[in-house]
Amino acid sequence: MVSTDINIKKSKAFDVAEIRKKFPVLERKVKGRDLVYFDNAATAQKPQVVIDALVRYYHQYNANIHRGIHSLAEEATAAFEATRDTVKEFINARHREEIIFTRGVTEGINLVAATYGRQHIKEGDEIIITGMEHHSNIVPWQLVCEEKKAVLKIIPVDDNGDLVMDDFEKLITPKTKIVSIVHASNSLGTINPVKEIIEIAHRHNIVVLVDGAQSSVHLEIDVQDMDCDFFVISSHKVYGPTGVGVLYGKKELLEAMPPYMGGGEMIKEVTFEKTTYNDLPYKFEAGTPNIADTVAFKAALDFVNETGKENIRRHEEALTKYAMEQLSAIEGVRLIGTSKHKTSVVSFIVDGAHPQDMGILLDNYGIAVRTGHHCCQPLMNRFEIPGTVRASFAMYNTKEEVDELVKGVGKAIKMLK
Ligand code: ALA
Repeated sequence: MVSTDINIKKSKAFDVAEIRKKFPVLERKVKGRDLVYFDNAATAQKPQVVIDALVRYYHQYNANIHRGIHSLAEEATAAFEATRDTVKEFINARHREEIIFTRGVTEGINLVAATYGRQHIKEGDEIIITGMEHHSNIVPWQLVCEEKKAVLKIIPVDDNGDLVMDDFEKLITPKTKIVSIVHASNSLGTINPVKEIIEIAHRHNIVVLVDGAQSSVHLEIDVQDMDCDFFVISSHKVYGPTGVGVLYGKKELLEAMPPYMGGGEMIKEVTFEKTTYNDLPYKFEAGTPNIADTVAFKAALDFVNETGKENIRRHEEALTKYAMEQLSAIEGVRLIGTSKHKTSVVSFIVDGAHPQDMGILLDNYGIAVRTGHHCCQPLMNRFEIPGTVRASFAMYNTKEEVDELVKGVGKAIKMLK
């Protein structure tokens, strides 16, 4: 098997000017201004090494994987499987078979809900999620609840955007079968105490899925230490291509689960009478996967490892603190999501201005932010707001760009008055 030579802890000095040179899109202008890209929680920009890896695959060894014995097929298979090994290291999984490639976090959660969920949830059972979930960690469970006549329960969120942990254990009953929680909120930035939640849930024999869409790019992920049962990632939030994700699951759970999709690759033998299923991880990888993007995902993870997550985190933390101080000093601006434990997400609303209008005006200054409910309508309802303006930072953002945002918000407020 191809092994990775990346030492996660090893990293070079962090130089944001040097890092910016590696992301070609950062050179472009928007509306005649230098692009300020603050929509990283939606998708991160791609370094040249990722783009090169993608192009190299199509240029030099495009072939289907696991099927051919010719050289190109072997090269493509080796590159695809090398990504699996790198992901295994990236999240410190025990076995490479525990790494299932998906299209992204949404598919990963749907896979678990449709297989483990439908297998284990019976009428009257309960599933617990939090009040800050993305729709992708609400709707798949609602589908199971509707089908099985089960109940969805919600851990509430306080005014700072933290979970009300005292309420969590009170929600658990002998009927609780699954807890599914976001590691870091996409709209507030809150980092949830997942280890504590998992410990409590396991005491009650409840399995836990952790949505790592927003955490895997910022935080060190160690699924063995966390002891989560399932963990999901999207490549495109970790500087990789869109259309690829990872479902990590504990081997014994994945082995006991029924398949998700039927088709080629996920079988051992097919007759019209009976089909036997393939071993992990292939049992959950029906059909030709997204080979090119999966191959390029490795380049993204290697890039993050080489830059050093700790370096990136320190840089992003400083930007977040600075942005929160500067924005909250503007009259009429209210920050939404002020937890002490945050990723680099700064959400805010402006008195008398709709988030969307703010977003349009900021775009005129070349500043890309996301506005709206961020696929978290229940959370917006809890704060009684239509949505927020969200700036989310990545390794290549700078203090000067935050200054541009602050200036832009000030100007936009004047225009909207
Ligand atoms: N879930 C992504 C976001 O928060 C798309 O923007």
